[in-house]
Amino acid sequence: MGLTGEPTPIGVLISGTGSNLRALFDAIDTDPSFGGKIVTVGADRADAGGLAFARTRGVTTFAHELGTFDTRQAWEDAMIASLKQAAPDVIVLAGFMRLVSATFLGHWPHKVVNTHPSLLPAFRGAHAIDDALAYGAKVTGCTVHFVDEELDHGPIIAQQAVPVEPDDDAATLRTRIQQCEHELLPRCVSLLCRGELTIDGRHVRVRKDHA
Ligand code: GRF
Repeated sequence: MGLTGEPTPIGVLISGTGSNLRALFDAIDTDPSFGGKIVTVGADRADAGGLAFARTRGVTTFAHELGTFDTRQAWEDAMIASLKQAAPDVIVLAGFMRLVSATFLGHWPHKVVNTHPSLLPAFRGAHAIDDALAYGAKVTGCTVHFVDEELDHGPIIAQQAVPVEPDDDAATLRTRIQQCEHELLPRCVSLLCRGELTIDGRHVRVRKDHA
């Protein structure tokens, strides 16, 4: 919620089906005090399923495929320019499978968040669910965190544990982790939009009694 009392404009970046994007739309629809609204959705793949869904919700969408640009910087500049057209104040990486640079983060300082399917700092990277299974972890989960320049590293906003069952495979474990993400991510984005989060080094605190 901005100073004017208007909902905070949110830009979402995705790479895939966009189930977390849908969860965000649902939370905003059902919670009048959410404090934010999605104004644009972008992807690094033109075939990202979440883009079609976003269009049905009447927000602007864009896709910039890294391989079609001469340099990574040119690709990221295009992502930033497209986001800026919708003037978001908060950026949510919701299954966006690319790193963003310091330049990108400089446009939205302390306003870029990511959801990751493990209890960080365990199992960083693109294969967190497979890695947790292969390691024999008994508990994994999901983490929502501020994004910094390192992969899956920034200050943690919230985490939720998910037990690994003996007969789990990647699909069953992913389903249960995503169920948790679909609650945790909207809750954290709402806190950020409402100005309830403060960052002190690696420590994120929730103002008032919204923890
Ligand atoms: C999520 O599990 C997220 O943690 C990971 O990619 C997945 C994206 O799923 N980085 P979806 O596109 O939101 O369905």
